Amino acid sequence: MRIDIITVVPDLLKSPFEASILKRAIEKGHVEIHFHNLRDYVTDNYKQIDDYQFGGGAGMVMMVEPIDKCISHLKSEREYDEIIYMTPDGERLQQKLANKISMYENIIILCGHYKGVDQRVRDHFITKEISIGDYVLSGGELGAAVLCDAIIRLIPGVLGNETSALTDSFQDNLLAPPVYTRPAEYKGWEVPEILTSGNFPKIEEWREEQAYLRTRKLRPDLLDEDEKN
Ligand code: ADE
Repeated sequence: MRIDIITVVPDLLKSPFEASILKRAIEKGHVEIHFHNLRDYVTDNYKQIDDYQFGGGAGMVMMVEPIDKCISHLKSEREYDEIIYMTPDGERLQQKLANKISMYENIIILCGHYKGVDQRVRDHFITKEISIGDYVLSGGELGAAVLCDAIIRLIPGVLGNETSALTDSFQDNLLAPPVYTRPAEYKGWEVPEILTSGNFPKIEEWREEQAYLRTRKLRPDLLDEDEKN
């Protein structure tokens, strides 16, 4: 998979890709990340990428021309499955959407800033708008990092079998069951006996039940009506 990220602050974005699972995914060739600094697509001497909005109003708006130049350049080189704009008024990022995007070959992610982008960018280039939650961030960069993390870990081969994303919370609409590691008893706090029993079919049954109970308690909205009782 190839991800092109368009931003005015590439420095804000780089560190999540320089450690742990994302770093390894890049090193192993499962994903290529390309950062594009919008200022490199500006022709005037001031390197202006934002301007006042027509009609008046507080806040600056990202201009259409540099974004057009950047996206058109990328589109001339390859086909993109989706051109995503990170914005608080987009579709809420959920596991199902991450699963879908993780199957794409090439995507562009445009990070918004200031009061957003000229509407013509959204009308003529963007194919999907994504929000990571109902709050307003200073820019789309942290949202883009969240989106990339959520999709890259799903690419086959990125996680080992033993840490497969299939057992993540939210896959199957269930939260993950509780997990424990050594020591089996700490300050009198004991690990549930079943987990040290070696009875793997029973352990599996226990985990399924715990996942269900935890979901019913913490996120009943994930369950179907008939599962809630
Ligand atoms: N940009 C600003 N706020 C955002 C949000 N909540 N999600 C995605 N991008 C954003």
